[in-house]
Amino acid sequence: MPTKTDFKAWRVEEKDGRYVGSEQTLNTSDLPDGEILIRVSHSSLNYKDALSASGNKGVTRTFPHTPGIDAAGEVVESSSPDISAGSKVIVTGYDLGMNTDGGFGEYIRVPAGWCVPMPAGWDARKAMIYGTAGLTAGLCVQKLLTMGANPSQGPVAVSGASGAVGSVTVELLAKLGFEVVAISGKSDHADDLKALGATEVVGRDTLAEEKKPLVKPAFGNAVDTVGGTPLAELLKQIKPGGSVSCCGLVAGPQLQTTVLPFILRGVNLLGVDSVEISLTEKQSVWDKFSGEWACPKTEASAKDIGRSGLEPALQAFLKGASAGKIVLDHSL
Ligand SMILES: NC(=O)c1ccc[n+]([C@@H]2O[C@H](COP(=O)([O-])OP(=O)(O)OC[C@H]3O[C@@H](n4cnc5c(N)ncnc54)[C@H](OP(=O)(O)O)[C@@H]3O)[C@@H](O)[C@H]2O)c1
Repeated sequence: MPTKTDFKAWRVEEKDGRYVGSEQTLNTSDLPDGEILIRVSHSSLNYKDALSASGNKGVTRTFPHTPGIDAAGEVVESSSPDISAGSKVIVTGYDLGMNTDGGFGEYIRVPAGWCVPMPAGWDARKAMIYGTAGLTAGLCVQKLLTMGANPSQGPVAVSGASGAVGSVTVELLAKLGFEVVAISGKSDHADDLKALGATEVVGRDTLAEEKKPLVKPAFGNAVDTVGGTPLAELLKQIKPGGSVSCCGLVAGPQLQTTVLPFILRGVNLLGVDSVEISLTEKQSVWDKFSGEWACPKTEASAKDIGRSGLEPALQAFLKGASAGKIVLDHSL
């Protein structure tokens, strides 16, 4: 017989066209069908969670809903031969926190194919310091490396540098020996970005709209976490043969560019998806972060909040005011 356990979740409801989150008591019997029941000790905050919690129907179609695209914890029940009760797992992406109740609740029930075994030496909090944002940063960097990116090509730019994806990207690229130019709208975070390894911090005006289709190239490669006009401008500033990994849309989903960076400078635009890729691809990045890619400064600077801190933290994402990695600890 499946366990029936009451648990707490931060649940979003639609009230008169507004989306309101609050702590509620649910039961594991309320969760969707699935092979693996997980007691979630930690989740992680991402821009997509803020979209879900504010009623963005492109992310979450129906409410009430428990957001949280990331979760880590212990398997309580399993009907899969591959995953045993008591094992520790990470779940990120797929439908978690979108239309499947997510990590902002103390329990989730998911398919076995969504669960990555916890890397050796890690606990749930450590995994959620990285979360989807860290995974995405790793995938962006990995794509650059696959294209042959190396420090001798010149500085690498990171846009949205103070954000969740951006900050991990800055530390990882610096660790790999790149000269990192952090592009950030938060001048008061320049010292934090330098502490993560940025050699230079420049304002978002570096990527303000420019009429010319190409400008003097300044960067060997780049990771763009914002999309829109800044991405179009970044493409104009990449040196011949360089690459830009692109993963985000906080500055807008539209990309208006000419083909000139591509056909005159051989620039590569590399799309990054952390959500629907195979579990094997996810696991290979988790394994790297738990070893050679460890980002100790990100680990030391992550902030922990409880469910009562979710509302303001998610609002900050929507205003572009969030910085660094935020972990949700269900015990706080
Ligand atoms: N493709 C994937 O699988 C994947 C996975 C994870 C995230 N994402 C996407 O990546 C993006 C970043 O996610 P995140 O969780 O890191 O969010 P985040 O913490 O809010 O970071 C985004 C950063 O972008 C900058 N920014 C915000 N609004 C901006 C604007 N209007 N114009 C220019 N820059 C702006 C801010 O940094 P500064 O103040 O430093 O400029 C902000 O901190 C989101 O679009 C998210 O959906 C995609």
